[in-house]
Amino acid sequence: MTDLLRVEALCAGYGQARVLDGISFAMKPGESLALLGRNGVGKSTLIRSLMGLTKRHSGSVFFGGADLSAASPTRRARAGLGWAPQERAMFPSLTVEEHLTTTARPGPWTLEKIYEVFPRLRERRLNMGDQLSGGEQQMVAIARALTTNPRLLLLDEPMEGLAPIIVQELAAVIGRLIREGGMAAIVVEQHARLALSMTERAMVLDRGRVVHESSSESLLRDSETLGRLVAVAA
Ligand SMILES: Nc1ncnc2c1ncn2[C@@H]1O[C@H](COP(=O)(O)OP(=O)(O)O)[C@@H](O)[C@H]1O
Ligand SMILES: [Mg+2]
Repeated sequence: MTDLLRVEALCAGYGQARVLDGISFAMKPGESLALLGRNGVGKSTLIRSLMGLTKRHSGSVFFGGADLSAASPTRRARAGLGWAPQERAMFPSLTVEEHLTTTARPGPWTLEKIYEVFPRLRERRLNMGDQLSGGEQQMVAIARALTTNPRLLLLDEPMEGLAPIIVQELAAVIGRLIREGGMAAIVVEQHARLALSMTERAMVLDRGRVVHESSSESLLRDSETLGRLVAVAA
């Protein structure tokens, strides 16, 4: 099978500052990857670089067979990259339903399908962005990425700042999405064990470089490596 995503020797950052220092990896269609590493190692920067939101110094990003290295964020989204940002990006003046329809594109993830997976959002469909709890905002951010019907879903710390009981609930939904949704996914998560339990492969970053790649299952069993490379919360 040909690669869906191929990143080659990517160096990128903000202005002259280099954060990513020669990142290379590839993903097949439908594959899931846990992207792990301590705070500040460049996980969000890698996700933003895939979306075309950082300064690329060198290296390439191929997606769906096309060279998107210099493509705009809009073109990348149109090509099938769907991003749920770490900072959630809610609009206080838009309703939940408006958040879900403004960037929607045709595909299996219709509004109806979204409400099946997130019944809470159906209940909240007429609420404004600033009337939502943290967990509901995370659901909107994920659902909004899904309504673009991406071929690769990028989830940047979807469980950040949520109460443990909500984390478990949302993790179950995300795990199901990844297994049954048909799309590829990259999950950035501080809850390393949780991310590993819902993905097939794992990649760990340290100071802008890939320092570990394995199956998620084997990293889950390797407490020594996990403890050394990742701050393990649970
Ligand atoms: N907008 C920005 N401008 C300049 N530097 C940034 C910006 N965002 C992040 N950085 C720096 O890039 C490095 C990696 O950050 P980030 O990718 O957010 O890490 P992670 O998501 O792994 O916690 C950090 O040193 C951080 O200070
Ligand atoms: Mg981050």
